[in-house]
Amino acid sequence: MVERPASVVKELVENALDAGAHAVDLAIEDGGRQTIRVSDDGSGMSREDAVLSIERHATSKIRSAHDLVGVRSFGFRGEALAAISSVSQLELETATDDGAGTLVRVEGGHVREVTDAARRRGTTVRVARLFYNAPARQKFLRGARSEWRAILDVVGTMALARRDVRLDVSHDGKPMLNLPAAASLRDRLAAIHGGSVAGRLLGVDEVSGTTHVAGLVERPADVGTATRRIFLSVNGRAVRDIGIVRAAEAAYRSTIPGGVRPTLFLEVVVAADMVDVNVHPAKAEVRFRDRWQVEQTVERAVRRALGTFDAGATFGRSVWPAALAGTAPAPAEPVDVESLQPTTTTSDGLFAASDSASASAAALPEASRPVSDIPPLIQLQRTYLMFEHEHGVVLIDQHSAHERVLFEQFMRTLECGEQPSQRLLFPMTLHLGPAESEAFETHRELFERLGFEIEGFGGHTLIVRAVPMPHPRFDPERCLRETLATLTGDRETGAHARHERLAATVACKAAIKAGDSLSPGEMRALFVALRDTTLPAHDVHGRATIVQLTWDEIERRFGRK
Ligand SMILES: Nc1ncnc2c1ncn2[C@@H]1O[C@H](COP(=O)(O)OP(=O)(O)O)[C@@H](O)[C@H]1O
Ligand SMILES: [Mg+2]
Repeated sequence: MVERPASVVKELVENALDAGAHAVDLAIEDGGRQTIRVSDDGSGMSREDAVLSIERHATSKIRSAHDLVGVRSFGFRGEALAAISSVSQLELETATDDGAGTLVRVEGGHVREVTDAARRRGTTVRVARLFYNAPARQKFLRGARSEWRAILDVVGTMALARRDVRLDVSHDGKPMLNLPAAASLRDRLAAIHGGSVAGRLLGVDEVSGTTHVAGLVERPADVGTATRRIFLSVNGRAVRDIGIVRAAEAAYRSTIPGGVRPTLFLEVVVAADMVDVNVHPAKAEVRFRDRWQVEQTVERAVRRALGTFDAGATFGRSVWPAALAGTAPAPAEPVDVESLQPTTTTSDGLFAASDSASASAAALPEASRPVSDIPPLIQLQRTYLMFEHEHGVVLIDQHSAHERVLFEQFMRTLECGEQPSQRLLFPMTLHLGPAESEAFETHRELFERLGFEIEGFGGHTLIVRAVPMPHPRFDPERCLRETLATLTGDRETGAHARHERLAATVACKAAIKAGDSLSPGEMRALFVALRDTTLPAHDVHGRATIVQLTWDEIERRFGRK
């Protein structure tokens, strides 16, 4: 249980927090191998309690069976001080509001001295020469730097969980962290890791029933560019919980490449009787009464944060205005795009097919947004759409953007309906290689749902009689060939995963390309269609569709700020 200096620090700080401290001061020497001193301004202890506290099972934290339900305090085992004092030279100095102060000196578990001590309310525990009497364990201590890093890790995590508490940490006499009580997670993060890290993260905030998920998560465009950090708290207590992390990661599906993992700072609050955080105090695992509901809320919360234009790549700190960012409707499932229909203002050729596809679905309020809130758009290099905004300049990659639009449209089709198609005047004949033919056979039914009407013609020849028409420049033959070539050898088994794979491939092949010149109406149509997707700021390969350059950053670069 007492494995290394960092675990001692953790126990002592938790005790201080349990005692209601508003400020905790840590002084560490030699990575905690020489001394660990933790002072707090909490309740303090009477002399009797102080002496008792270092005996095994000395906890004061369970007074009745009722306390075992929804315990909010950190530990109730009543063993930490006993265990620590048995392998160190420990001094405990404490005073309550009224009583006189007490000093207890313990060596290797034996109380050597109990005397008066003059001090203000609170407790200071000083642990010196950890494992001095347990050479086998001392041997396993790492170097001072490594132990110090582990301590910083523990303190950083607790500092995030309890940002209402002031924390000061010094190492070998040098101040290392000074964290005043912070009003927000972002402020606390900025104090620990610096403002540039904190400023780039996206805010998360979602309530579902009695579950509240808040926090900060990494922009998909930034994932993989810096050290990954994970912080998770449940009801104010830092925990590890792989299920919640997985749920948050699931929200990133189709916005980041496989193999990279996002930085996440998430705070979950649930009703006290819905959770048992004391299942395994050392491992900090959590047992929820309704885990599925909590994970669903986490995934939805993160997905919503990613589902705004603001979630795109940014130079400088993002200040995307709520007016534009707030258009993402509440997504319920990873790819619940059923409720997201293209707007009626987009029938400008480019999205004619998607308009008729949506005819049967109920229009959402978002769908009737007036055309007037579309900013003037300029096409650059026949590749990017640019517009200016109150807070900066924004670039949209037309291919990536269209790919995102088509991907969601195709997913909607594959999972919930049929795509209208256009009969070809002259059926098209395709000769395929064996691998492509096999890929076609595997996905045949899905191709049909996407609007392809295809007949096998024996051997490796296909006759295509009808095709979907996502936009006037669509080249069905090329799309089909390239899609089949990409799907060759595809062994995706789950239905949803197969749909995603096919939708992403066809979207990529069917989308307008860089170099296609767009009419003003088509640019507007693309803008609106993109804005109405669930994840407008990301294409389906983990790249940004949108990059913004804020006026702030521009002014900074021109030395105006
Ligand atoms: N910093 C502190 N301020 C006030 N009381 C403390 C402090 N540290 C320890 N105690 C008291 O000592 C008891 C034993 O502490 P510990 O061994 O960590 O067990 P636990 O925290 O599991 O109860 C606590 O229950 C508490 O009453
Ligand atoms: Mg404790």
